[in-house]
Amino acid sequence: MLDNHKELFELSKKIIPGGVHSPVRGFKGLPMAPRFFERAEGAYITDVAGKDYIDFCMSFGPLILGHRDRDVEQELRHALERGWSYGACEPYSLKLAQFLVDRLPFIDQIRFVNSGTEAVMTAIRLARGYTKRSKIIKFNGCYHGHVDSMLIKAGSGLAGSADASSAGVPKGVSDDTLIVELNDIDALKACFEEHKDEIAGVFIEPLPANNGLLIQDNEYLHAVRDLCTKEKALLVFDEVISGFRVAFGGMAKVTGIKPDLVTYGKIIGGGLPVGAIGGPEHIMSELAPVGPVYQAGTLSANPLAMVGGLATLSKLSVASYDVLEANTKRIADIFRRWLAEYSDGKYANTSVIQYGSLFWMHPKTDKELKAIHEIPSNLSEAFGPMFGELLEKGIYIAPNAWEVGFASMAHDDAVIAELEKRLWS
Ligand SMILES: Cc1ncc(COP(=O)(O)O)c(C=O)c1O
Repeated sequence: MLDNHKELFELSKKIIPGGVHSPVRGFKGLPMAPRFFERAEGAYITDVAGKDYIDFCMSFGPLILGHRDRDVEQELRHALERGWSYGACEPYSLKLAQFLVDRLPFIDQIRFVNSGTEAVMTAIRLARGYTKRSKIIKFNGCYHGHVDSMLIKAGSGLAGSADASSAGVPKGVSDDTLIVELNDIDALKACFEEHKDEIAGVFIEPLPANNGLLIQDNEYLHAVRDLCTKEKALLVFDEVISGFRVAFGGMAKVTGIKPDLVTYGKIIGGGLPVGAIGGPEHIMSELAPVGPVYQAGTLSANPLAMVGGLATLSKLSVASYDVLEANTKRIADIFRRWLAEYSDGKYANTSVIQYGSLFWMHPKTDKELKAIHEIPSNLSEAFGPMFGELLEKGIYIAPNAWEVGFASMAHDDAVIAELEKRLWS
Protein backbone atom coordinates (compact mmCIF):
# COMPACT_ATOMS: atom_id res chain seq x y z
CA MET A 1 0.00 0.00 0.00
CA LEU A 2 2.80 2.40 0.86
CA ASP A 3 3.90 2.49 -2.77
CA ASN A 4 0.43 3.01 -4.18
CA HIS A 5 -0.31 6.68 -4.82
CA LYS A 6 -4.03 6.22 -5.18
CA GLU A 7 -4.39 4.36 -1.89
CA LEU A 8 -2.15 6.83 -0.07
CA PHE A 9 -4.22 9.69 -1.44
CA GLU A 10 -7.50 8.05 -0.40
CA LEU A 11 -6.12 7.61 3.11
CA SER A 12 -4.84 11.19 3.16
CA LYS A 13 -8.21 12.54 2.11
CA LYS A 14 -9.82 10.94 5.18
CA ILE A 15 -7.61 12.76 7.65
CA ILE A 16 -6.30 15.81 5.78
CA PRO A 17 -8.68 18.20 3.97
CA GLY A 18 -8.49 17.27 0.29
CA GLY A 19 -5.56 15.02 1.20
CA VAL A 20 -3.08 17.89 0.98
CA HIS A 21 -1.53 20.68 3.01
CA SER A 22 -1.46 23.13 0.12
CA PRO A 23 -4.13 22.99 -2.63
CA VAL A 24 -2.05 22.68 -5.82
CA ARG A 25 -0.48 19.49 -4.50
CA GLY A 26 -3.83 17.71 -4.89
CA PHE A 27 -3.65 17.38 -8.73
CA LYS A 28 -7.08 19.03 -8.94
CA GLY A 29 -8.70 18.57 -12.35
CA LEU A 30 -6.16 15.93 -13.35
CA PRO A 31 -7.22 12.31 -13.88
CA MET A 32 -4.48 10.68 -11.77
CA ALA A 33 -3.76 10.66 -8.03
CA PRO A 34 -0.95 12.92 -6.84
CA ARG A 35 2.46 11.28 -6.73
CA PHE A 36 3.84 10.71 -3.23
CA PHE A 37 7.53 11.52 -3.19
CA GLU A 38 9.93 10.35 -0.54
CA ARG A 39 13.43 11.13 -1.80
CA ALA A 40 15.23 13.59 -4.02
CA GLU A 41 18.71 14.20 -5.29
CA GLY A 42 20.01 16.96 -7.55
CA ALA A 43 17.49 17.49 -10.34
CA TYR A 44 15.61 14.25 -9.62
CA ILE A 45 12.74 13.42 -7.32
CA THR A 46 11.71 9.84 -6.54
CA ASP A 47 8.25 8.62 -5.67
CA VAL A 48 7.29 5.97 -3.12
CA ALA A 49 7.16 3.34 -5.87
CA GLY A 50 10.80 4.05 -6.75
CA LYS A 51 10.16 5.86 -10.05
CA ASP A 52 12.30 8.92 -10.57
CA TYR A 53 11.37 12.14 -12.35
CA ILE A 54 13.35 15.09 -13.61
CA ASP A 55 11.96 17.72 -11.28
CA PHE A 56 10.95 21.08 -12.75
CA CYS A 57 8.80 22.01 -9.78
CA MET A 58 11.70 22.08 -7.32
CA SER A 59 9.44 22.58 -4.33
CA PHE A 60 7.89 25.54 -6.19
CA GLY A 61 11.15 27.42 -6.42
CA PRO A 62 13.26 27.38 -3.25
CA LEU A 63 15.75 24.74 -4.41
CA ILE A 64 17.84 26.82 -6.76
CA LEU A 65 20.86 24.59 -6.17
CA GLY A 66 18.89 21.39 -6.66
CA HIS A 67 17.82 18.83 -4.07
CA ARG A 68 20.25 17.95 -1.29
CA ASP A 69 23.08 20.19 -2.32
CA ARG A 70 25.96 18.70 -0.37
CA ASP A 71 27.30 22.00 1.03
CA VAL A 72 23.88 23.02 2.29
CA GLU A 73 23.32 19.58 3.73
CA GLN A 74 26.61 19.69 5.61
CA GLU A 75 25.88 23.10 7.10
CA LEU A 76 22.44 21.91 8.16
CA ARG A 77 23.90 18.83 9.83
CA HIS A 78 26.37 20.98 11.77
CA ALA A 79 23.64 23.35 12.88
CA LEU A 80 21.35 20.46 13.84
CA GLU A 81 23.98 19.06 16.18
CA ARG A 82 23.94 22.33 18.11
CA GLY A 83 20.17 22.65 18.56
CA TRP A 84 17.26 23.60 16.35
CA SER A 85 15.25 26.26 18.12
CA TYR A 86 16.19 28.80 20.75
CA GLY A 87 13.44 31.38 20.77
CA ALA A 88 16.14 33.86 21.67
CA CYS A 89 18.88 35.91 20.05
CA GLU A 90 21.33 33.72 18.11
CA PRO A 91 24.14 34.36 15.65
CA TYR A 92 22.62 32.51 12.69
CA SER A 93 20.02 35.09 11.72
CA LEU A 94 22.56 37.84 12.34
CA LYS A 95 24.92 36.25 9.82
CA LEU A 96 22.21 35.86 7.21
CA ALA A 97 20.90 39.39 7.80
CA GLN A 98 24.41 40.84 7.46
CA PHE A 99 25.03 38.83 4.31
CA LEU A 100 21.86 40.19 2.74
CA VAL A 101 22.09 43.79 3.88
CA ASP A 102 25.67 43.92 2.54
CA ARG A 103 24.52 42.76 -0.90
CA LEU A 104 21.10 44.32 -1.41
CA PRO A 105 21.52 48.09 -1.77
CA PHE A 106 17.80 48.78 -1.39
CA ILE A 107 17.53 47.42 2.15
CA ASP A 108 19.09 48.59 5.42
CA GLN A 109 17.25 46.17 7.64
CA ILE A 110 15.56 42.80 7.36
CA ARG A 111 13.13 40.85 9.54
CA PHE A 112 12.82 37.08 9.16
CA VAL A 113 9.48 35.29 9.35
CA ASN A 114 8.40 31.76 8.43
CA SER A 115 6.86 32.05 4.97
CA GLY A 116 6.24 34.34 2.04
CA THR A 117 2.68 34.81 3.26
CA GLU A 118 3.89 36.06 6.63
CA ALA A 119 6.31 38.43 4.93
CA VAL A 120 3.52 39.94 2.84
CA MET A 121 1.21 40.11 5.84
CA THR A 122 3.84 42.06 7.73
CA ALA A 123 4.51 44.31 4.74
CA ILE A 124 0.82 45.20 4.52
CA ARG A 125 0.65 46.13 8.18
CA LEU A 126 3.92 48.02 7.97
CA ALA A 127 2.83 49.96 4.89
CA ARG A 128 -0.39 50.91 6.64
CA GLY A 129 1.34 51.79 9.90
CA TYR A 130 3.99 53.85 8.16
CA THR A 131 1.69 55.80 5.85
CA LYS A 132 -1.30 55.89 8.22
CA ARG A 133 -3.49 54.96 5.26
CA SER A 134 -5.56 51.82 4.95
CA LYS A 135 -6.08 50.83 1.30
CA ILE A 136 -3.68 48.74 -0.72
CA ILE A 137 -3.46 48.10 -4.45
CA LYS A 138 -2.73 44.69 -5.89
CA PHE A 139 -2.73 43.50 -9.49
CA ASN A 140 -5.16 41.09 -11.04
CA GLY A 141 -3.53 37.66 -11.11
CA CYS A 142 -0.63 38.37 -8.79
CA TYR A 143 -0.41 35.99 -5.85
CA HIS A 144 0.98 37.18 -2.54
CA GLY A 145 0.25 34.24 -0.28
CA HIS A 146 -2.92 33.43 1.59
CA VAL A 147 -3.27 36.53 3.72
CA ASP A 148 -6.93 37.70 3.73
CA SER A 149 -6.40 41.03 2.02
CA MET A 150 -4.48 39.42 -0.84
CA LEU A 151 -6.91 36.60 -1.64
CA ILE A 152 -8.63 38.77 -4.15
CA LYS A 153 -8.05 38.12 -7.83
CA ALA A 154 -5.08 36.02 -6.84
CA GLY A 155 -3.14 33.38 -8.74
CA SER A 156 -1.31 30.12 -7.87
CA GLY A 157 -3.81 27.56 -6.49
CA LEU A 158 -6.60 30.09 -7.09
CA ALA A 159 -5.70 30.77 -10.70
CA GLY A 160 -8.46 29.85 -13.07
CA SER A 161 -11.14 29.49 -10.44
CA ALA A 162 -14.38 31.23 -11.40
CA ASP A 163 -14.31 33.47 -8.37
CA ALA A 164 -10.62 34.02 -7.84
CA SER A 165 -11.01 34.68 -4.19
CA SER A 166 -11.72 32.82 -0.98
CA ALA A 167 -14.60 32.31 1.41
CA GLY A 168 -13.95 33.65 4.85
CA VAL A 169 -12.53 37.00 3.78
CA PRO A 170 -14.75 39.67 5.38
CA LYS A 171 -16.05 42.41 3.11
CA GLY A 172 -14.47 44.98 5.39
CA VAL A 173 -11.08 43.47 4.57
CA SER A 174 -11.58 43.02 0.84
CA ASP A 175 -12.96 46.56 0.51
CA ASP A 176 -9.52 47.86 1.37
CA THR A 177 -7.84 45.93 -1.45
CA LEU A 178 -8.10 47.64 -4.81
CA ILE A 179 -7.46 45.60 -7.94
CA VAL A 180 -5.76 46.96 -11.04
CA GLU A 181 -4.83 45.16 -14.28
CA LEU A 182 -1.16 44.54 -14.93
CA ASN A 183 0.56 46.46 -17.73
CA ASP A 184 -2.01 49.27 -17.60
CA ILE A 185 -0.52 52.41 -16.10
CA ASP A 186 -3.64 54.46 -16.81
CA ALA A 187 -5.70 52.07 -14.69
CA LEU A 188 -3.24 52.53 -11.84
CA LYS A 189 -3.37 56.32 -12.24
CA ALA A 190 -7.18 56.25 -12.21
CA CYS A 191 -7.17 54.12 -9.06
CA PHE A 192 -4.87 56.58 -7.31
CA GLU A 193 -7.07 59.48 -8.43
CA GLU A 194 -10.23 57.83 -7.17
CA HIS A 195 -8.63 57.07 -3.81
CA LYS A 196 -6.56 60.18 -3.30
CA ASP A 197 -4.38 59.98 -0.16
CA GLU A 198 -5.90 56.63 0.81
CA ILE A 199 -3.36 54.20 -0.65
CA ALA A 200 -0.80 52.82 1.78
CA GLY A 201 1.02 50.61 -0.68
CA VAL A 202 1.12 49.11 -4.14
CA PHE A 203 2.01 45.42 -4.01
CA ILE A 204 3.34 43.82 -7.15
CA GLU A 205 5.14 40.71 -8.22
CA PRO A 206 7.63 42.56 -10.42
CA LEU A 207 7.86 39.32 -12.40
CA PRO A 208 4.33 37.97 -12.11
CA ALA A 209 4.79 34.20 -12.00
CA ASN A 210 1.73 32.80 -10.29
CA ASN A 211 -0.74 33.07 -13.12
CA GLY A 212 1.57 31.92 -15.79
CA LEU A 213 4.57 34.09 -16.50
CA LEU A 214 3.45 37.62 -17.35
CA ILE A 215 6.65 39.51 -18.01
CA GLN A 216 6.15 43.25 -17.51
CA ASP A 217 7.98 45.94 -19.47
CA ASN A 218 10.71 47.80 -17.67
CA GLU A 219 9.09 51.15 -18.55
CA TYR A 220 5.83 50.05 -17.02
CA LEU A 221 7.49 49.02 -13.75
CA HIS A 222 9.36 52.34 -13.65
CA ALA A 223 6.08 54.18 -14.22
CA VAL A 224 4.56 52.26 -11.28
CA ARG A 225 7.53 53.36 -9.16
CA ASP A 226 7.10 57.00 -10.20
CA LEU A 227 3.39 57.00 -9.45
CA CYS A 228 3.94 55.51 -5.99
CA THR A 229 6.53 58.19 -5.24
CA LYS A 230 4.25 60.95 -6.49
CA GLU A 231 1.28 59.66 -4.49
CA LYS A 232 3.36 58.90 -1.36
CA ALA A 233 2.33 55.26 -1.36
CA LEU A 234 4.91 52.57 -0.66
CA LEU A 235 5.95 50.39 -3.57
CA VAL A 236 6.26 46.82 -2.32
CA PHE A 237 8.06 44.35 -4.55
CA ASP A 238 6.95 40.85 -3.71
CA GLU A 239 10.06 38.95 -4.71
CA VAL A 240 9.11 35.66 -3.06
CA ILE A 241 9.65 33.95 -6.42
CA SER A 242 11.91 36.37 -8.29
CA GLY A 243 14.25 37.26 -5.42
CA PHE A 244 17.61 35.45 -5.74
CA ARG A 245 16.15 33.65 -8.77
CA VAL A 246 16.39 36.07 -11.70
CA ALA A 247 19.49 37.68 -10.14
CA PHE A 248 20.73 37.81 -6.57
CA GLY A 249 19.04 41.19 -6.20
CA GLY A 250 15.89 39.93 -7.91
CA MET A 251 13.82 42.19 -10.13
CA ALA A 252 14.91 45.25 -8.13
CA LYS A 253 18.41 44.60 -9.47
CA VAL A 254 17.25 43.66 -12.98
CA THR A 255 15.07 46.75 -13.41
CA GLY A 256 17.17 49.17 -11.36
CA ILE A 257 14.06 50.09 -9.36
CA LYS A 258 14.31 50.77 -5.65
CA PRO A 259 11.19 49.40 -3.97
CA ASP A 260 10.22 50.85 -0.58
CA LEU A 261 9.78 47.38 0.83
CA VAL A 262 10.62 43.98 -0.50
CA THR A 263 9.28 40.60 0.55
CA TYR A 264 11.18 37.36 0.15
CA GLY A 265 10.53 33.66 0.65
CA LYS A 266 11.48 30.42 -1.06
CA ILE A 267 15.21 30.65 -2.00
CA ILE A 268 16.02 32.79 1.04
CA GLY A 269 15.51 29.67 3.16
CA GLY A 270 17.09 27.24 0.70
CA GLY A 271 14.10 24.89 1.06
CA LEU A 272 13.47 25.43 4.77
CA PRO A 273 10.59 27.62 5.95
CA VAL A 274 11.67 31.27 5.80
CA GLY A 275 10.20 34.53 4.63
CA ALA A 276 11.60 38.00 5.07
CA ILE A 277 10.74 41.63 4.73
CA GLY A 278 13.38 44.22 4.01
CA GLY A 279 13.54 47.95 3.53
CA PRO A 280 15.16 51.20 4.57
CA GLU A 281 15.67 51.90 8.27
CA HIS A 282 13.13 54.72 8.46
CA ILE A 283 10.36 52.30 7.43
CA MET A 284 11.62 49.11 9.05
CA SER A 285 12.06 50.83 12.41
CA GLU A 286 8.28 51.18 12.58
CA LEU A 287 8.25 47.45 13.42
CA ALA A 288 8.01 46.24 17.02
CA PRO A 289 9.84 46.37 19.34
CA VAL A 290 11.17 49.74 18.13
CA GLY A 291 8.00 51.03 16.49
CA PRO A 292 4.26 50.61 16.88
CA VAL A 293 3.65 48.03 14.10
CA TYR A 294 3.44 44.65 15.81
CA GLN A 295 4.99 41.50 14.38
CA ALA A 296 6.31 38.39 16.11
CA GLY A 297 6.93 34.64 15.70
CA THR A 298 7.80 31.73 18.02
CA LEU A 299 9.89 30.04 15.34
CA SER A 300 10.91 33.16 13.41
CA ALA A 301 14.54 33.06 12.26
CA ASN A 302 14.74 29.37 13.08
CA PRO A 303 18.45 28.51 13.21
CA LEU A 304 18.22 25.61 10.75
CA ALA A 305 16.33 27.74 8.26
CA MET A 306 18.84 30.57 8.65
CA VAL A 307 21.75 28.22 8.05
CA GLY A 308 20.01 26.59 5.08
CA GLY A 309 19.35 30.01 3.61
CA LEU A 310 22.85 31.32 4.09
CA ALA A 311 24.47 28.13 2.77
CA THR A 312 22.29 28.34 -0.33
CA LEU A 313 22.71 32.05 -0.99
CA SER A 314 26.48 31.91 -0.42
CA LYS A 315 26.82 29.61 -3.40
CA LEU A 316 25.09 31.96 -5.84
CA SER A 317 27.49 34.06 -7.91
CA VAL A 318 26.89 36.20 -10.99
CA ALA A 319 28.19 33.25 -13.00
CA SER A 320 25.57 30.96 -11.42
CA TYR A 321 22.83 33.10 -12.93
CA ASP A 322 24.48 32.94 -16.35
CA VAL A 323 24.61 29.15 -16.15
CA LEU A 324 21.03 28.93 -14.86
CA GLU A 325 19.74 31.12 -17.66
CA ALA A 326 21.71 29.37 -20.41
CA ASN A 327 20.58 25.94 -19.25
CA THR A 328 16.96 27.01 -18.85
CA LYS A 329 17.02 28.42 -22.39
CA ARG A 330 18.14 25.00 -23.61
CA ILE A 331 15.44 23.29 -21.54
CA ALA A 332 12.77 25.64 -22.92
CA ASP A 333 14.02 25.04 -26.48
CA ILE A 334 13.85 21.29 -26.00
CA PHE A 335 10.30 21.48 -24.63
CA ARG A 336 9.32 23.83 -27.47
CA ARG A 337 10.66 21.42 -30.06
CA TRP A 338 8.98 18.47 -28.37
CA LEU A 339 5.64 20.28 -28.20
CA ALA A 340 5.86 21.15 -31.89
CA GLU A 341 6.96 17.72 -33.11
CA TYR A 342 5.60 15.15 -30.71
CA SER A 343 2.99 12.66 -31.86
CA ASP A 344 2.07 14.42 -35.14
CA GLY A 345 1.86 17.78 -33.43
CA LYS A 346 -0.74 16.90 -30.79
CA TYR A 347 0.68 19.62 -28.53
CA ALA A 348 1.61 21.97 -31.36
CA ASN A 349 -0.65 24.72 -30.01
CA THR A 350 1.38 24.94 -26.82
CA SER A 351 4.53 26.99 -26.54
CA VAL A 352 7.06 27.87 -23.85
CA ILE A 353 8.10 31.23 -22.50
CA GLN A 354 11.28 31.49 -20.45
CA TYR A 355 12.78 34.14 -18.21
CA GLY A 356 16.00 33.44 -16.31
CA SER A 357 15.55 30.02 -14.75
CA LEU A 358 11.75 30.15 -14.98
CA PHE A 359 9.62 28.85 -17.81
CA TRP A 360 5.94 28.37 -18.55
CA MET A 361 4.07 26.25 -21.07
CA HIS A 362 1.07 28.07 -22.45
CA PRO A 363 -1.25 28.05 -25.47
CA LYS A 364 0.32 29.84 -28.43
CA THR A 365 -0.70 33.49 -28.82
CA ASP A 366 0.10 36.22 -31.35
CA LYS A 367 1.47 38.60 -28.78
CA GLU A 368 3.37 38.46 -25.52
CA LEU A 369 1.16 37.79 -22.51
CA LYS A 370 1.32 40.62 -19.99
CA ALA A 371 -2.06 40.61 -18.26
CA ILE A 372 -4.28 37.86 -17.02
CA HIS A 373 -7.16 38.57 -19.43
CA GLU A 374 -4.80 37.90 -22.36
CA ILE A 375 -4.26 34.27 -21.34
CA PRO A 376 -6.24 31.99 -23.67
CA SER A 377 -9.16 30.34 -21.93
CA ASN A 378 -8.23 26.85 -23.16
CA LEU A 379 -5.11 26.80 -20.99
CA SER A 380 -5.99 23.89 -18.74
CA GLU A 381 -7.58 21.77 -21.51
CA ALA A 382 -4.26 21.41 -23.24
CA PHE A 383 -2.40 21.01 -19.98
CA GLY A 384 -4.05 17.87 -18.57
CA PRO A 385 -3.01 15.32 -21.23
CA MET A 386 0.44 16.86 -21.57
CA PHE A 387 1.04 16.72 -17.82
CA GLY A 388 0.00 13.05 -17.73
CA GLU A 389 2.30 12.16 -20.59
CA LEU A 390 5.26 13.97 -19.01
CA LEU A 391 4.62 12.19 -15.72
CA GLU A 392 4.69 8.83 -17.51
CA LYS A 393 7.97 9.78 -19.12
CA GLY A 394 9.54 10.63 -15.76
CA ILE A 395 9.32 14.42 -16.03
CA TYR A 396 7.63 16.31 -13.22
CA ILE A 397 6.26 19.80 -13.69
CA ALA A 398 3.93 21.56 -11.25
CA PRO A 399 0.49 19.93 -11.47
CA ASN A 400 -1.37 23.06 -12.53
CA ALA A 401 -1.44 24.87 -15.87
CA TRP A 402 -0.85 28.28 -14.31
CA GLU A 403 2.29 27.37 -12.37
CA VAL A 404 5.71 28.10 -13.80
CA GLY A 405 8.58 25.63 -14.10
CA PHE A 406 11.83 26.07 -12.20
CA ALA A 407 15.31 24.94 -13.18
CA SER A 408 18.21 24.68 -10.76
CA MET A 409 21.99 24.48 -10.79
CA ALA A 410 21.54 20.71 -10.76
CA HIS A 411 19.83 20.81 -14.17
CA ASP A 412 23.15 20.39 -15.92
CA ASP A 413 24.26 18.96 -19.27
CA ALA A 414 23.63 15.37 -18.18
CA VAL A 415 20.12 16.17 -16.97
CA ILE A 416 19.35 18.13 -20.13
CA ALA A 417 20.49 15.16 -22.25
CA GLU A 418 18.31 12.89 -20.12
CA LEU A 419 15.37 15.26 -20.61
CA GLU A 420 15.73 14.96 -24.38
CA LYS A 421 15.97 11.20 -24.13
CA ARG A 422 12.89 10.90 -21.91
CA LEU A 423 10.80 13.29 -23.99
CA TRP A 424 11.30 11.39 -27.21
CA SER A 425 11.16 7.94 -25.60
C1 LIG B 1 4.99 36.04 -5.16
C2 LIG B 1 4.58 35.23 -3.98
N1 LIG B 1 4.30 35.86 -2.83
C3 LIG B 1 3.96 35.18 -1.72
C4 LIG B 1 3.88 33.80 -1.72
C5 LIG B 1 3.51 33.07 -0.49
O1 LIG B 1 4.62 32.37 0.01
P1 LIG B 1 4.42 31.10 0.94
O2 LIG B 1 3.82 30.03 0.11
O3 LIG B 1 5.81 30.79 1.43
O4 LIG B 1 3.53 31.53 2.06
C6 LIG B 1 4.16 33.11 -2.90
C7 LIG B 1 4.06 31.64 -2.96
O5 LIG B 1 4.14 31.01 -3.97
C8 LIG B 1 4.52 33.83 -4.05
O6 LIG B 1 4.81 33.23 -5.20
